[in-house]
Amino acid sequence: MPEFVNPFSGVVPERKLSKEELIRAIRLNLAAEHEAVHLYMAHADATDHPLAKKVLVDIANEEREHAGEFMRLLEILTGDEASWLENGRAEVDELAEEIGYETGTAGRGPSGAGDTETTVGSLKD
Ligand SMILES: [Fe+2]
Repeated sequence: MPEFVNPFSGVVPERKLSKEELIRAIRLNLAAEHEAVHLYMAHADATDHPLAKKVLVDIANEEREHAGEFMRLLEILTGDEASWLENGRAEVDELAEEIGYETGTAGRGPSGAGDTETTVGSLKD
């Protein structure tokens, strides 16, 4: 996200990044994509203006694609990212199975369909 108050945030170091530094940089970039999605969707939820809402959701979805690009890049750079992610997915699936929670993705598409399920209650009410 923007750091306009820090005049040094965009300064390029005098040397190239090591591979480990690059991996950390990509993780930071990935976090920034997720933060952008959060911000744009929050703004979309906060307005009733139909065009603004449509543009914000569209851009949020583009950021989700960017996150996917960074994830794939991390898989390539680290060589083991995919297996760690798969381990995490499997753990969630096991927990879901323990409580009988359906983990299928039907009804949850890029449009955000299927978002009527609440956790602690809807703030829209
Ligand atoms: Fe992005």
